[in-house]
Amino acid sequence: MTTADKVVEAALGALDLDTKARLLAGQDMWTLPAVPEIGLASLVMSDGPVGVRGVRWTPDDPSVTLPSPTALAATWDPELARRAGRLLAQEARRKGVHVLLAPTVNLHRSPLGGRHFEAYSEDPYLTGAIGTGYVRGVQEGGVAATVKHFVANDAETDRFTVDNVIAPRPLRELYLAPFEAIVRDARPWGVMAAYNRVNGVTMTEHRRLQTEVLRGEWGFDGFTVSDWFAARSTTGALRGGLDVAMPGPRTVYGEALAAAVRAGELDEGLVDAAVRNVLRLAARVGALEGAPSGAAAPETPAADAPTSDAPTSGPATSEAPAPAGTHQPPEPLDGEALAREIARRSFVLVRNEHDVLPLDPGPGPAPGPAPGPAPAPGRRIALIGAAARDARVLGGGSAHVFPTRTVSPLDGLTAALPDGAALTYAVGAEPSDEPAPAGPGFALRAVCRDASGAVLADTPLPTGEIKWIGDNGLPAGATHATLHSVEITGTFTPRDSGAHCFGTRGIGAFTLTVAGRTLYDGVQEMGTESDLFEAFIGTPMERGTVILAEGVPVEVSLRHTLDHDRPMPVPAVVHSLLHRPPLRDPDELITEAAEAARAADTAVVVVATTERVESEGFDRTDLRLPGRQDDLVRAVAAANPRTVVVVNAGAPVEMPWRDDVAAVLLSWFPGQEGGAALADVLLGADEPGGRLPTTWPAALADAPVTRVAPEHGELPYSEGVFIGYRAWDRSGATPAYPFGHGLGYTTWEYDSLEVTPTTARVTVRNTGTRPGREVVQLYVAPRADLVERPARWLAGFATVEAEPGGCADAEIRLAPRLFDIWDEPKGTWTTVPGVYDIHVGRSLTDLRRRVTLELD
Ligand code: BGC
Repeated sequence: MTTADKVVEAALGALDLDTKARLLAGQDMWTLPAVPEIGLASLVMSDGPVGVRGVRWTPDDPSVTLPSPTALAATWDPELARRAGRLLAQEARRKGVHVLLAPTVNLHRSPLGGRHFEAYSEDPYLTGAIGTGYVRGVQEGGVAATVKHFVANDAETDRFTVDNVIAPRPLRELYLAPFEAIVRDARPWGVMAAYNRVNGVTMTEHRRLQTEVLRGEWGFDGFTVSDWFAARSTTGALRGGLDVAMPGPRTVYGEALAAAVRAGELDEGLVDAAVRNVLRLAARVGALEGAPSGAAAPETPAADAPTSDAPTSGPATSEAPAPAGTHQPPEPLDGEALAREIARRSFVLVRNEHDVLPLDPGPGPAPGPAPGPAPAPGRRIALIGAAARDARVLGGGSAHVFPTRTVSPLDGLTAALPDGAALTYAVGAEPSDEPAPAGPGFALRAVCRDASGAVLADTPLPTGEIKWIGDNGLPAGATHATLHSVEITGTFTPRDSGAHCFGTRGIGAFTLTVAGRTLYDGVQEMGTESDLFEAFIGTPMERGTVILAEGVPVEVSLRHTLDHDRPMPVPAVVHSLLHRPPLRDPDELITEAAEAARAADTAVVVVATTERVESEGFDRTDLRLPGRQDDLVRAVAAANPRTVVVVNAGAPVEMPWRDDVAAVLLSWFPGQEGGAALADVLLGADEPGGRLPTTWPAALADAPVTRVAPEHGELPYSEGVFIGYRAWDRSGATPAYPFGHGLGYTTWEYDSLEVTPTTARVTVRNTGTRPGREVVQLYVAPRADLVERPARWLAGFATVEAEPGGCADAEIRLAPRLFDIWDEPKGTWTTVPGVYDIHVGRSLTDLRRRVTLELD
């Protein structure tokens, strides 16, 4: 027994049944109760995955905001994911958080999945490799990662009840595979049980998957926690292997659990097993006195982590993790610098006709390495798009955090362009005509009052949005018991003259006053939505219009009176003051943008999705860019042949104009430094380093899986193992851009490929004029198949760097179980003998060399 085990056992032995039951129930929205008698501190959990929000969903303690998980996966670099994890651990420690509720390793089964931006890839191996890097980084910082959502929470529609019907092969080969890889290679300290059912059993009660597979087969020794409000049965959940039910304290555990044991319905040994897992977690994160923290960190780097021995490949080779108890990274990481590095390494340049990118930044010191011997013309830049000014840097839902700052594309380009380079800006098209939380021009605060009208708290608000969830969520001075009303109040100074629309979002009683006029005084009832997030986010309601003059401030106030009789699952104050600037004629906006484009050497159009398109609690219904953005791109491209489109979306969108523009750069949700990274890449200080982690369809109808809504409660995964590129290969349809695709600013030759059944050695040569980074991709293709399998699948990858004319070698370990399938009748993995081609190349469809292997 290790010291940690002994401390855990001693602590467990000192607890009575009621305390154990209380510990498993949670204390409030984000914490477990402290038990001072055994030296146990209150364990604090927080979302995840692009930043660490902390226990308050308020902007007063912002967090460094990294690019979206799709972006992290687009780097194809587990070591960069590991650095992201270390930074998040640093942020978590700063905020007193022990457990990060991330990463999300569900798969991109359909582009319609609402939280697609929050997951990594359509490929289980890439997902597992990025997730492994991330988890290692977080836990090397002494903070627990919670791999979620176990398993098959691949879409949002009816997520609390949907029964995903999945055959054993796809379940093992696709959906469980990333979890298994991460458990094997990164030894996560936590796993979150999903809302949904799998094959008839809700995941919080899924004994087969939680207990037999996760713990039994894979040896997971961390703690399991329900997704928030997912646990529904005391006996079912405990017997099913769920350790903690969140959020507390009114969950199926606590008093109900103690009562079930006393009634003889549950064995106390099962309670002990769950508490032991929680105490082990506490020991690992330094929350249990006497136990050395980090006691169960992985001792060796993963056997199958992609590595490279290229001399210039920098961090691609895994280093040994810090020894137990010394999990601090040697140097504090610079969050802004890392956010910017990940962003530019994640941007995927899918099209670059006539090398329109990088742009010539003009005279003066360039912001980085010279952009090449023959700079393209392009000094006058017309920047176009609402998201170029009001940047959309992260997705919505529980993944939302408050950035420490936001660098928009306009900010980034303005800062990077040397004096004399002309930059103009035009909105071009508004992605949405719905009012959104009050933002630019507003100076707001929230005033909390009790029933007598006395002020309990008065706190600044950066936007018109309030999300105070749980007991810790309120501003200091207010409590849910005493709080009677919350007034969002302050001034608004318009950027434009005209008819400004104001609105509300939220449930309950509101009074909205602008410039002395009461626009609304009434009660907004809750809709039929069963999902809390959907209820909270809800439909924005327009409440009235006021004519205002540019630059002239007016008073605004939205008073919300709380209804203490309304039953809420957790105490929460969630509502928003909404605003929409004067709507201009959409055709006029487009014409104005086209004129700006015509007058410039290069037009850069930033198009984007909105929070109403990509968020949590609902799925998408189409892949179109919202508003008139497609028309805008067409008009700008017609006005200027040097049109570069930047796609600011966390998930695929249709780009019907993609062949009519000079360049298309996918920037995902690029995190808080996105605009700075965009300037780096557009102006050539760095090349865009990303490769597609998921196939981008030309049209939704071509996508292999387009149904995400259950029928009679069931969602059959009838495509079996054919999702993503595995399905595109089978159907023969051509996507807009294939898996693995992405251009840099240099060109590559693949000089050699040698393969054994476990390793590949690849030599690539930089044949261009700039230094570059290449993502070397291996795919395996069975020659003839006895079993029904995809035509090919990802076998390994590595990133390498080389100077112009230089070579780089990569030694790449092939993925474990590369030649195996899950044998359904036998219920085991089995290797399929035969002849396999191993291809190496730049993407699934740009394969450069091939070697044949025979496996008996
Ligand atoms: C999400 C989880 C998240 C949890 C806590 C749930 O709605 O599905 O991913 O960790 O809320 O915010």
